[in-house]
Amino acid sequence: MSKDNSTNVFQEVISHCKEYGFIFPSSEIYDGLGAVYDYGPYGVELKKNIQEYWWKSMVQLNESIVGLDAAIFMHPKTWKASGHVDAFMDPLIDNKDSKKRYRADVLIEDALAKMEDKIAKEAEKAQKKFGDAFDREKFLATNPNVLRVKEKLTTYESRFKKALEDNDLTEVKQIIIDLEIACELSGSKNWTDVRQFNLMFSTEVGSVAEEASTIYLRPETAQGIFVNFLQVQRTSRKKIPFGIAQVGKAFRNEIVARQFIFRTREFEQMEMQFFVRPGSEMEWYQHWKEQRMKWHRSLGFAEENLKFFDHLKLAHYANAAVDIQFNFPFGFKEIEGIHSRTDFDLKNHQELSGKKLQYFDPETNESYVPYVVETSVGLNRTFLAVMCNAYKNEKLEDGSERVVLSIPAFLSPIQIAVFPLVKKDGLPEKAQEIYDELKWDFRMFYEEKDSIGKRYRRQDALGTPYCITIDHDTLTDNMVTLRDRDTMQQERISIERLKEVVTQKVDWKKGLR
Ligand code: GAP
Repeated sequence: MSKDNSTNVFQEVISHCKEYGFIFPSSEIYDGLGAVYDYGPYGVELKKNIQEYWWKSMVQLNESIVGLDAAIFMHPKTWKASGHVDAFMDPLIDNKDSKKRYRADVLIEDALAKMEDKIAKEAEKAQKKFGDAFDREKFLATNPNVLRVKEKLTTYESRFKKALEDNDLTEVKQIIIDLEIACELSGSKNWTDVRQFNLMFSTEVGSVAEEASTIYLRPETAQGIFVNFLQVQRTSRKKIPFGIAQVGKAFRNEIVARQFIFRTREFEQMEMQFFVRPGSEMEWYQHWKEQRMKWHRSLGFAEENLKFFDHLKLAHYANAAVDIQFNFPFGFKEIEGIHSRTDFDLKNHQELSGKKLQYFDPETNESYVPYVVETSVGLNRTFLAVMCNAYKNEKLEDGSERVVLSIPAFLSPIQIAVFPLVKKDGLPEKAQEIYDELKWDFRMFYEEKDSIGKRYRRQDALGTPYCITIDHDTLTDNMVTLRDRDTMQQERISIERLKEVVTQKVDWKKGLR
């Protein structure tokens, strides 16, 4: 897909989300609040379904994982121990002419991604020119233009990696200058120095100024799991290796909040901390990498739209880290992080709190601070990936067009829409009867307004996998028309069989077995 085309598709997805009640800009009557969004009637259903699916696959299908719901506010020392007060920073840079603020690392990453794009485009051009005779690997290894860009890319990648590792902000600025990166607003290359910026939001608790103390809105849900680790272990009677899972809001004062719900200042994480014996963490890291990739595939994402990306710079707590990236219309970007967090967090909490956070291992007769492998996926980013993956503007055989969301049936906000063909002759009553019967098992929708064709199109745009139409024959033969969203095929089926047929089609277990 060309860049312009994919930008258009992304804009279409954003408009679609608003028009069809998935996502609204926050407080829009006051002209909105930048990068904050509300989830409408269909968005809240889809988000909840993704969350439930994650919870089922993580907690209910794993004997060794239990859940937790910790508070957003935590004792301020939590964030000292976790390293967030001192190290949860992003390097920022301002353009002196436009006053626009950027993340310095993102400016560089985008410039490097453009080089990769250039290499891919050269290959595409040559492919078109040489057709079937084209040997892509040989071309990439020998073409002088490609080699020049590759060399430049490698040089900058290693400079960038080293600058991040050394925390060398002067070098980060120098890379921006050497890459000749210009501000997208002013077009100028007139940059300030790069500075570190802490991403945590703070607020005050307590009503009297002298007694008030600063607390933070949690920037990750994980710390609630760490500080509760021993209580959960004792009460759930779990033995290592075991995990604790949690879903909840997290807050980060992102310098550049952008790309719709991809990067926002308030978002939701679905995290799982897996506690293991020291020394076994790499084995578990591999295990969770595979499991999590399998989960993303089960959302209907094609293999070529998902990839692993090893971190260039490890977070302050990790000894190995990888992202699972999804191919959004704006390129491959992270949806999940998998980190081997060592014993960093538990050890620091133990030190700062003075409370032992050790586990007694009955198999080895030893007490130790466990190591942790973490899986952390953004709920909102997964939502965006599902929407981008599902959105299609199709040209039909009769020349007309339809917008359809091919959301996996088990996640769809509505699973069955029920339509009486006309608003009279007892059809609404019969349709209502069917609706009332099926609503115990499925997410339902009822509508009698407009032509059947229009009603079908509207459900396509909401991602509803099945529509049932009740016509005059239904009253005598007890059969209805079941229409499939993806194939648009219609079949006559008896009312008695509806539950069985649809149950099979909306089964959430298929992708995970
Ligand atoms: N506890 C580890 C942790 O928080 P992370 O890689 O910083 O790791 C994990 O975040 C996931 O949370 C990301 O992969 C992303 O899906 C989501 N996430 C992080 N920052 C976000 C933001 N500003 N907006 C939306 N989602 C975000």
